Amino acid sequence: ASIFVVMLQSVCCNFGQSRNVIEQHYGRSLGVLPEEPLLLSENSTETQEVHPSVVMYWSLSVSIFSIGGMVSSFLVGFIGDLRGRVKGMLMVNVLAVIAGLLMVMAKMWKPHVMVIAGRCVMGFYCGLSSGLVPMYIGEIAPMAYRGALGTLHQLATVTGILLSQVLGLEFLLGNDYYWPLLLGLSGAPAVLQSLLLPLCPESPRYLYIKRGMVEEAKKSLHRLKGEYDPSADLEEMRREKEEVEKEAQVSIAVLVRSSLYRQQLFVALMMHFSQQLSGINAIFYYSTAIFERAGVTQPVYATIGVGVLNTVFTMVSVALVDRAGRRTLTLIGLGGMCICAVSMTVGLVYLSVYSWMSYVSMSAIFLFVCFFEIGPGPIPWFIVAELFSQGPRPAALALAGCTNWTSNFIIGMTFPYIEALCGSYVFILFAVLLFGFTVFTYLRVPETKGKTFEEIAAVFKKGMKQTPGTRKTGTGTGTSTELEQLKTDSQ
Ligand code: GLC
Repeated sequence: ASIFVVMLQSVCCNFGQSRNVIEQHYGRSLGVLPEEPLLLSENSTETQEVHPSVVMYWSLSVSIFSIGGMVSSFLVGFIGDLRGRVKGMLMVNVLAVIAGLLMVMAKMWKPHVMVIAGRCVMGFYCGLSSGLVPMYIGEIAPMAYRGALGTLHQLATVTGILLSQVLGLEFLLGNDYYWPLLLGLSGAPAVLQSLLLPLCPESPRYLYIKRGMVEEAKKSLHRLKGEYDPSADLEEMRREKEEVEKEAQVSIAVLVRSSLYRQQLFVALMMHFSQQLSGINAIFYYSTAIFERAGVTQPVYATIGVGVLNTVFTMVSVALVDRAGRRTLTLIGLGGMCICAVSMTVGLVYLSVYSWMSYVSMSAIFLFVCFFEIGPGPIPWFIVAELFSQGPRPAALALAGCTNWTSNFIIGMTFPYIEALCGSYVFILFAVLLFGFTVFTYLRVPETKGKTFEEIAAVFKKGMKQTPGTRKTGTGTGTSTELEQLKTDSQ
């Protein structure tokens, strides 16, 4: 039940993006956007006819969200440790409510300023919640279900996308009259969550390991698991606390410079790069335009179809991730997406020659999204917590979150220009990147399924021994030699 409550926070995130609304109704009602979408317009000069300040408002409304996320992801560790995970999540909900109100009231003042401000605050909120939610879930999940429960964060995110797509239909809220309500509704799950969060037990790991509150941790365990003998769980936490005490508190600056965690960090950041640079968010923008081109009369319903598949395949991932493993699912996902990106390009390039090619691009879009949700979508969000021990975990989560939001921002800002430059060949770029990420995953990403944090660290230790020029002592679990090393690194 607690996990379902915290998932409400992830629902807010992509709900807040309501991309179609921002692209169409908000822009149109301001009189600053043409009727046609800016992307993929048949006549590419159309983009140039729009006044530059209009393009700027539009791009800024879309991308300020990721800027907010980029900045706030650095605060995840701080907020989570301040008063605990639950109180942290409760605190940040204020931001979602403020953001929602700013957007609901957009028409009362200058709508573009209100929406840009609202989305900036909402992005800031999402940067925090996309760290706090996986952190809490990771800490309360039993090892055997760590993957499935971790994937629930993504399931909530995609549910948010689907909800906003459905509510964004013209006859519901996606019209020139109700769009502020649709954007503002992104704050609603946070209100509901604030009412339910006080019923959720604090993370026992936070209570025991960070605060040394053994009795409270025990109570929390009982509330989470019912009446049972908690001595095995407590013993495991005691061991972890011992390790943590040997380990220096690793700040972001230390983590970046330290050679001890370099391999884990490299893998974690690359997984976040691969999630965003796969072009998934470009697909979410692009799909309506491609469906339009393919002659679908109501492309918005096809886009909702993408949202449905997105949600269904995230559920498939929930079912598979603890059986098939993170590495296998990421490999299948990235490889499949690479093939889809190539097919999409073939479909688009030959569309003018063979009309049936539109079906090739359409199927490629659907499959691209399915492959994404099988692995590359959900896994990066929870694997970072698995790759690092308690000491460097908050810093690693912050860096990984920032990497994700930064690459999201880069794609959001540059995609329209790259598309204008490459035309139908734009997805070849993503195909090349996806190929590279598939090879990287094959060579460097270890399997973390069913392994304790110590076992995962041991995998990297082995890796370091094999890599010339790296220190043999590095395990990431915090021996005194490592502590010395960390201290040297931080000077
Ligand atoms: C992941 C990504 C997000 C994307 C979503 C699509 O959560 O982080 O940027 O929009 O998946 O399902």
